[in-house]
Amino acid sequence: MNQTKKYFIETYGCQMNVYDSELVAGILEKETYKRADSVEEADIIFLNTCSVREHAEDKVHARLGVLREQKEKNPDTIIGVLGCMAQNLRDDLLVRKPYVDVILGPDSYRRLPELLSEHSGPMDHVVDTKLSRMEVYEGLFPARREGVGAWVSIMRGCDKFCTFCIVPFTRGRERSRTVESIVNEVRQIAADGFKEVTLLGQNVNSFHSESALFPELLQAVSEIQGIERIRYTSPHPQDFDDALIELHANNPKICNHIHFPLQAGSDSVLGRMNRTYTKQHFIDMSEKMRHAIPGLALSTDIIVGFPGETDKDFQETLDVMHAVKFDSAFTFKYSARPGTKAAEFEDSVPEEVKQNRLERLIDIQRQHTLERNRQHVGETHAVLVEKDSKKSVQQHMGRTRNNKIVVFDKGAEQVGDFVNVKITGAEGVTMFGELI
Ligand code: 5AD
Ligand code: SF4
Repeated sequence: MNQTKKYFIETYGCQMNVYDSELVAGILEKETYKRADSVEEADIIFLNTCSVREHAEDKVHARLGVLREQKEKNPDTIIGVLGCMAQNLRDDLLVRKPYVDVILGPDSYRRLPELLSEHSGPMDHVVDTKLSRMEVYEGLFPARREGVGAWVSIMRGCDKFCTFCIVPFTRGRERSRTVESIVNEVRQIAADGFKEVTLLGQNVNSFHSESALFPELLQAVSEIQGIERIRYTSPHPQDFDDALIELHANNPKICNHIHFPLQAGSDSVLGRMNRTYTKQHFIDMSEKMRHAIPGLALSTDIIVGFPGETDKDFQETLDVMHAVKFDSAFTFKYSARPGTKAAEFEDSVPEEVKQNRLERLIDIQRQHTLERNRQHVGETHAVLVEKDSKKSVQQHMGRTRNNKIVVFDKGAEQVGDFVNVKITGAEGVTMFGELI
């Protein structure tokens, strides 16, 4: 009998989950498990889940409904829910979805092989949602897919407690890895041929170890040979200091793109969100960054329809957008997350008002993105080639140092090469160019 079991992981939500899925794959492959090419041929199916908005949870509930049918045909299939929903909805899953065999929160992956070996069959639930103050998965190597960029988690959890956010509850308290272990992991990544690394954390710039703060960690990573570009996500404006701006300005490996989450523009909403900065501070910081860092692209996250958000408050979000002119933005309708402080706030904003505000915001952002991208027309940019373009195998797609997507006709270059591309146009979120 073939003892080797095949697993398949589907990942939902943020980049941290992408990293965690690679970590889980690494943990399983150290044992006897092998990756399956599809859900259909897997003995064990994991969904690595997200709770940040209701919609993210709905998608997983729907997917579980489909997997249940697969399990009915093949009752030995093991179904596992990992990540934030496991942490957040453990009891609900146990009661309403008893066909889910494994429920593991984000701090419990180390125990996965042991727990799987204890699993004795249908209705024997394997559950671990204990959050840890320590677990940073030191000493484990994620099983990375091939590509030009790799992700590295440098800290986990969040202590900021923005009132809308479930993350501090699903991912627990903030903790950082050691510089040494991060540097070792990035050395391995470089040896594996990756050119770009993105450092990840729920609150990445509040990284602190005994020997280093975030800018010092970035400096240490930038000294690793073979890694040409360093990115990170997501920082919190509160922890963004001059040392970090200076490093962006002076260290060519630290990319000139910063994700700078605004969330809302009015001081009253920012206060109730517990974001700990004001509208003016945010605008001043953005200007300082743009001034100090040549060619900087700024992206952001914005939520519309937070409880009590008035038309005037919303107008102030638009004011900040006009003042900063973000290069791109992720925009969301507020989604109440049970257990968070904001879920208890009254004055919820009607759905149609949220929808209308979202559409107005998207429209403005579209114009700003185009305007910013068109400013690059005529310039020549170093582009790291990522893959074929979506539209044509005759074209490559890559990114500039400031994280803009560029599509151009192929030459002799390969995926993973750096090429110089002259920007000739911009449409939607894409820039077009030609090899020079
Ligand atoms: N509703 C809508 N958007 C949210 N985000 C976090 N929590 C919520 C919520 N309850 C957004 C924030 C955050 C991004 C990852 O998701 O903008 O920066
Ligand atoms: Fe959530 Fe705020 Fe922490 Fe980001 S900083 S993970 S939005 S609580």
